[in-house]
Amino acid sequence: MDTNKKNILVIYHSQGGTMKRMADRFAKGAQKEENVTVTYKKAAEATLDDLLQCHGIAIGSPEYFGTMAGMIKDFFDRTYEGAKEKTIGLPFIVFVCAGNDGRGAVTQIERLAAGYKWKKVQEHVRIVGPPTKEDLARLEELGQTLAAGVDFGIF
Ligand SMILES: Cc1cc2nc3c(=O)[nH]c(=O)nc-3n(C[C@H](O)[C@H](O)[C@H](O)COP(=O)(O)O)c2cc1C
Repeated sequence: MDTNKKNILVIYHSQGGTMKRMADRFAKGAQKEENVTVTYKKAAEATLDDLLQCHGIAIGSPEYFGTMAGMIKDFFDRTYEGAKEKTIGLPFIVFVCAGNDGRGAVTQIERLAAGYKWKKVQEHVRIVGPPTKEDLARLEELGQTLAAGVDFGIF
């Protein structure tokens, strides 16, 4: 990682591939900003260090059983103690996919983010059913927005 640049951490979980398609586009958008680096990982592979080194985080989760995917919760479980005092004010964005709802996942992720005292810098994106071309384009734009906002120090 280029330590002179700010870093965006994009973490996601996907079992069936829908969230992977969404997160791929989000990360692609973030990578358009040349002055930031992007760490793009499945949540299960993301570490406390990844979190401590980032200047903005995006979390992409499917809704499973009315809440976030277990591996997203696992990331929070593994990092909270080490990160809670060190990531206060971290800009964050949430995006969720769901078969018919998704609101439970959004609410729970935002509740945990509040526990870390992170800063919500854009409204979440919740996509119900297969994402359309427009949905994916919107996610790409959102990724670029997060990266640009962090780069310019707006967030
Ligand atoms: C185990 C399981 C539980 C699910 N629970 C919900 C749910 O509570 N609410 C909902 O809207 N969709 C639910 N779904 C549908 C998924 O959120 C949806 O298919 C999503 O696009 C899956 O993302 P993925 O392909 O990245 O895994 C569930 C799917 C699975 C596999």
